[in-house]
Amino acid sequence: MRTQLDQLVTSALQQGSAVPAFTCYDFTTALAVVGAAEESGRGVILLVAPKTAATPNGLRLIAALRGLADAASVPVAVQLDHASDLQVMADAVGAGADSVLADGSSLPYEDNVALVVAARELLGADVVLEAELGGLAGDEDRAFSADQPAAEAGVSVAGLTDSAQVEDFVARTGAQLLAVAVGNVHGKYKGEPQLRWDVLQDIAVRTHIPLVLHGASGIPAEELVKAAAMNVGKVNFNTELRTGVLATLQEQLPAHRADGENLQALLGHWNRSAGEFAGATLATLTR
Ligand code: 13P
Repeated sequence: MRTQLDQLVTSALQQGSAVPAFTCYDFTTALAVVGAAEESGRGVILLVAPKTAATPNGLRLIAALRGLADAASVPVAVQLDHASDLQVMADAVGAGADSVLADGSSLPYEDNVALVVAARELLGADVVLEAELGGLAGDEDRAFSADQPAAEAGVSVAGLTDSAQVEDFVARTGAQLLAVAVGNVHGKYKGEPQLRWDVLQDIAVRTHIPLVLHGASGIPAEELVKAAAMNVGKVNFNTELRTGVLATLQEQLPAHRADGENLQALLGHWNRSAGEFAGATLATLTR
């Protein structure tokens, strides 16, 4: 059913839970995520990557996700993730996204504020806006292993959210959710993730809007469950979900090739892998 992303997150936080958000590059994954949410009786967020939304087929995927979300028996939000291009934001909302992460985190502070303000002016009051303060290392769409050069960028913790900026940023942007950089990275962590709970706590006392933890793949469940107590009401996953799906497909492909090029059965494995990950994550964040 249709929901306002900020309300979904706020009501989860009131129950001591966070809402997971999963990147969906395709409809099979989205079906599995929504199915897992329905099974658990909890709301969920479907994320669309900006590279997806920048293509005509990506906009059609958003329209399909809109239909899927509206017909679900639990609240489901459709969010454009990490967008910095106003045209992509407008197109995604036109196609059916109900929320946008207006991400100016790689820009100078004042430009970050200006991007979120411009997004609000363009998209109107009904679209829920998340903003990001502090730079997250890593690549949103590609996860490099520790021995590949790009991984070095992924382990940098430079760009932690400056908690002294939080009140001003939230007041001036009117953001309804705030994504933070507290040692979290997109993609794979080198070694154990070292989340800066002290920084998170410092941010949490400076704003009442829900916080968002990106780069949750690889963060152990015992750590994730602590997040809601610090007002983190939304937790984003991509790498772990796709890694599981790809491993399953790699394992299953030869047998299904041999079985008459059985794509339908292979999609069943895809659905199961994504659904199991989404179901386990929902259980972790709501326990
Ligand atoms: P991971 O790929 O590290 O899970 O990050 C996902 C994310 O933050 C999407 O916005």
